[in-house]
Amino acid sequence: MWRNRDVISARDFTRSDIEELFETAKYMEKYAKGRLDVMRGKIMAVAFFEPSTRTRLSFEVAMKRLGGDVVGFWGAEGTSVEKGETLADTIRMLDAYSDVIVIRHRYEGAAKLAAEVAESPVVNGGDGAFNHPTQAMLDVYTIWREFGYVDGLNIGLLGDLRHARTVNSLLEILTNFNVKVYLISPEYLRPRAETIDYVQSKGLKLSFYTNVEEVIGELDVMYVVRIQKERFIDPLEYEKVKGSYRVTPDMLRKAKKTLVILHPLPRVDEIDPRVDATSHAKYFRQAALGVPLRMALIYLILS
Ligand code: NCD
Repeated sequence: MWRNRDVISARDFTRSDIEELFETAKYMEKYAKGRLDVMRGKIMAVAFFEPSTRTRLSFEVAMKRLGGDVVGFWGAEGTSVEKGETLADTIRMLDAYSDVIVIRHRYEGAAKLAAEVAESPVVNGGDGAFNHPTQAMLDVYTIWREFGYVDGLNIGLLGDLRHARTVNSLLEILTNFNVKVYLISPEYLRPRAETIDYVQSKGLKLSFYTNVEEVIGELDVMYVVRIQKERFIDPLEYEKVKGSYRVTPDMLRKAKKTLVILHPLPRVDEIDPRVDATSHAKYFRQAALGVPLRMALIYLILS
């Protein structure tokens, strides 16, 4: 059941929630470039305190394709936050003016705080280094659309698994499926112990690698993330791992023909642009599917 729900953490959603979302998103694909007037009279407020391209635009486009309206801001510039207004007060105002709030914030816990203050449903568009649940839903949705199923797949996660919030949420969502997860990163960039303990306690099968070439031949999906430079506490640690992995056409010669490469984007240098022309590259399709997936989310929460 999605009606009126906050979307704060991927941990809160069951397999049947996810299946309902995916079926609805698949239906929404027909309208992702058109219009389905089911949200007429509804307003979405977007409060983006941190940079975003895809998440914000796909939420806004999704609401507009559904016939609803969007208000909000990106960057606190021009809002009363600049005058020292607290997050809670800003959210109270958005709550009074709209039917659903989408928030992105650099601090972990901001979305949860917003949900506690607001009566309207709050959707977490990424807060801190820990949660980005709708991106994880989109990631698994893309896998489901590519293969027609998720169970049984070997899924590799490559890169900064420690600071990437999409990775944390993706691991949490994957506990609903029977998949094998290969965590590929420099040791320092492995997911937080708390995440590993949680997903293992839910039965997710994990194995750890430092070199992608070692396992690439086994993978059905390779999910790549950039090094999250802005989230390093120690710049020296960043210098040590910078440039430590890069997906190249050469490396892909060892991969299954059907390997699907995903990336939440933005990419910096971790995927060679020459990979874009290969049949493996699905990250732009993934970004495009953000619209129908978020149309489905809004529809299920608000209708
Ligand atoms: C990600 C994010 O903001 O966490 N981007 C996104 O939402 N697609 C990934 C990133 O910034 O690396």
